[in-house]
Amino acid sequence: MASSMLNGAEHLTLIREIAPKGLGFLGSDLHGRCFPKMTLVSYGSNSKSRRTLGPRCSSISSSRPSSQPRFIQHKKEAFWFYRFLSIVYDHVINPGHWTEDMRDDALEPADLSNRNMIVVDVGGGTGFTTLGIVKHVDAKNVTILDQSPHQLAKAKQKEPLKECKIIEGDAEDLPFPTDYADRYVSAGSIEYWPDPQRGIREAYRVLKLGGKACVIGPVYPTFWLSRFFADVWMLFPKEEEYIEWFTKAGFKDVQLKRIGPKWYRGVRRHGLIMGCSVTGVKPASGDSPLKLGPKEEDVKKPVNPFVFFLRFLLGVMAATYYVLVPIYMWIKDLIVPKGRPI
Ligand SMILES: C[S@@+](CC[C@H](N)C(=O)[O-])C[C@H]1O[C@@H](n2cnc3c(N)ncnc32)[C@H](O)[C@@H]1O
Repeated sequence: MASSMLNGAEHLTLIREIAPKGLGFLGSDLHGRCFPKMTLVSYGSNSKSRRTLGPRCSSISSSRPSSQPRFIQHKKEAFWFYRFLSIVYDHVINPGHWTEDMRDDALEPADLSNRNMIVVDVGGGTGFTTLGIVKHVDAKNVTILDQSPHQLAKAKQKEPLKECKIIEGDAEDLPFPTDYADRYVSAGSIEYWPDPQRGIREAYRVLKLGGKACVIGPVYPTFWLSRFFADVWMLFPKEEEYIEWFTKAGFKDVQLKRIGPKWYRGVRRHGLIMGCSVTGVKPASGDSPLKLGPKEEDVKKPVNPFVFFLRFLLGVMAATYYVLVPIYMWIKDLIVPKGRPI
């Protein structure tokens, strides 16, 4: 299985052990002060054992220190990134990072158990994840939202998605009423949101009481070179950051399931563009208890075109490294005898 979910006692992991030693977020409290207070995270193959207790940390900021510029974690850069990437996305990007078996594995905790459920797929792009959703839910009940019309144009061409509602919008400011959906799904999009906490807060708002959010996204690399390119490209959150965002937004029963391409044999040191599926349940109707200030990025504000272009170029160059990593891992998987670590 593509999933590298951990089971049983050996897989109880103290968050403190995987906590960052200086994530460097400006204004954040991720410098050791937060994580000693965090409790146990456990992963398991069923919902009983897959239990994660959240942190009691005062704040996480998405601001970028100079060591982690994350050039494409901006709405404008992401828009142009997908202007071009949408042309090859389904054929070049997904096969290396986001396969059909990974998708099914990642959607399993979303409990898409009823064909009549109202589902929103935020940052739905070309509809690759939506194709997994409509296996379980009637397409007419599913809305695909994305800020890129170029990505959405690809989704519109897919026959099984013909009855889905397809709309342009911003994950941090969703055009759905409060208490609207049974399920919120977002796969591979959070890494581009300037303020992920705001996006997850929106997930909470639009869900009905008892509704479930499922955010699938990258995980941070530990190998220095991969970490360098990840930090130049976009946001690769740490597992504990997802948990904190969910918990602070008000979600209960927050769980994290690890996923990855099968030919990685569970290796996570290079980070993964699709590395985990995080779920949480909305315990009360209405808005999130979390109050936030103004948006991180004002897309209407003019930008210096030279600075924009430079950031965009550096971000794209760093992203190219991550086109090569799955090929490198695939070759390693072919060469190294089965059963040995790679
Ligand atoms: C890696 S693609 C994932 C597409 C799809 N969910 C999948 O599983 O293949 C990321 C998508 O997030 C979208 N995106 C990035 N920032 C966004 C935002 N602030 N609001 C809505 N969509 C956004 C991009 O346009 C892109 O289509």
